[in-house]
Amino acid sequence: MYAEKVLSGMRPTGRLHLGHYHGVLANWIKLQHEYPCLFFVADWHALTTAYDEPGTIAQNTWDMVIDWLAAGVDPSQATLFVQSRVPEHAELNLLMSMMTPLGWLERVPTYKDQQEKLTHKDLATYGFLGYPLLQAADILIYRANRVPVGEDQVPHIEFTREIARRFNHLYGREPGFEDKAKESIKKLGSKRAKLYEELRTRYQEKGEESALEQAHVLLDEAQNLSHGDHERLFGYLEGGGKMILVEPDAMLTEASRMPGLDGQKMSKSYGNTITLREDAESIRKKIRTMQTDPQRVRRTDAGDPEKCPVWQFHLIYSNDEVRGWVQEGCRSAGIGCIECKQPVIDAVLAEQEPMRERARMYEEDPQLVRNIIADGCEKARKLAQETMRDVREAIGLDYT
Ligand code: TRP
Ligand code: SF4
Repeated sequence: MYAEKVLSGMRPTGRLHLGHYHGVLANWIKLQHEYPCLFFVADWHALTTAYDEPGTIAQNTWDMVIDWLAAGVDPSQATLFVQSRVPEHAELNLLMSMMTPLGWLERVPTYKDQQEKLTHKDLATYGFLGYPLLQAADILIYRANRVPVGEDQVPHIEFTREIARRFNHLYGREPGFEDKAKESIKKLGSKRAKLYEELRTRYQEKGEESALEQAHVLLDEAQNLSHGDHERLFGYLEGGGKMILVEPDAMLTEASRMPGLDGQKMSKSYGNTITLREDAESIRKKIRTMQTDPQRVRRTDAGDPEKCPVWQFHLIYSNDEVRGWVQEGCRSAGIGCIECKQPVIDAVLAEQEPMRERARMYEEDPQLVRNIIADGCEKARKLAQETMRDVREAIGLDYT
């Protein structure tokens, strides 16, 4: 009844490259078949560092969304939307800011790291300090259970969990909570109710995590519970009040193994990328002029694939047979580097063919993309509004 929800966001950085594809996007594309997914453009987050270059956001957003669609993110499976079109994120951010200790924000490692890295910008701003809280609002407003992110984002998910816990602790207690919880337990039916009480005792008295997990499963399987009863019983397990906001788990995205053309990590700032809808001729040229083993100066010199960025591409794109051919041919000077690169060129072009095909449709008719996002925003907004109703009520802002 309560399927786990996946949510993730990306700041609009413009055209995406193969590194994004083999890391984040391939993962999203897999997840969209396994869970209800929400994927969004974090345009407000982009403003935390690009507040002085507002003109870039729109183009970067549309370019990025077309890349998502081109790569195979499917709007009939996942909900795609833009953060700034769901203003409820800002309301939740504001309300949570009232109970967020400054020290928690200052301790988030990305805060100092980014300030030190982006020295050309004044990042001593309120918005930048609040970056993780806005991210927490993005996640909590959808009661998302799982958040696929790279390793660098894990502290933000940890922070989100702490905020959710603090919020529930402060606002989750309703008057007469114990009595209400007892009433809710009755609705489980006598057999389940007894098991629930046992599991709760085992968790509270002995701290058995497995009992907590079992109780969560029990609640998820209880088909006849209302949302309110369900949440109350979730909260009661841990002794607190109602669980208004849900603590999410990070789902670590494996770092992309995609190297750049020079063997360093593929990144726009290193100028070593192949973008997702790049012109075929440009791709051929980039790979043909790619660095190889520096020891292999002449065609007759033997080389070592381990010292060559092209080999890294073979590890992603080639089967065992081709890899064997590279290893043998390189080490014996049996093949030339241009020859060696050809299967990589073919594979990258083949991978991009369906992407270019899908992208063409959206490039020719940008209204299609606008419509997909408008639909997604509407769906997201409904979910966000439901949570906000509960949040306002919990804080006591639902008065007339
Ligand atoms: N901070 C994330 C990044 O830079 C982007 C982001 C914003 C995000 N809100 C989010 C990711 C919510 C996951 C969930 O990659
Ligand atoms: Fe690199 Fe292939 Fe040339 Fe060997 S033959 S140096 S692996 S490009």
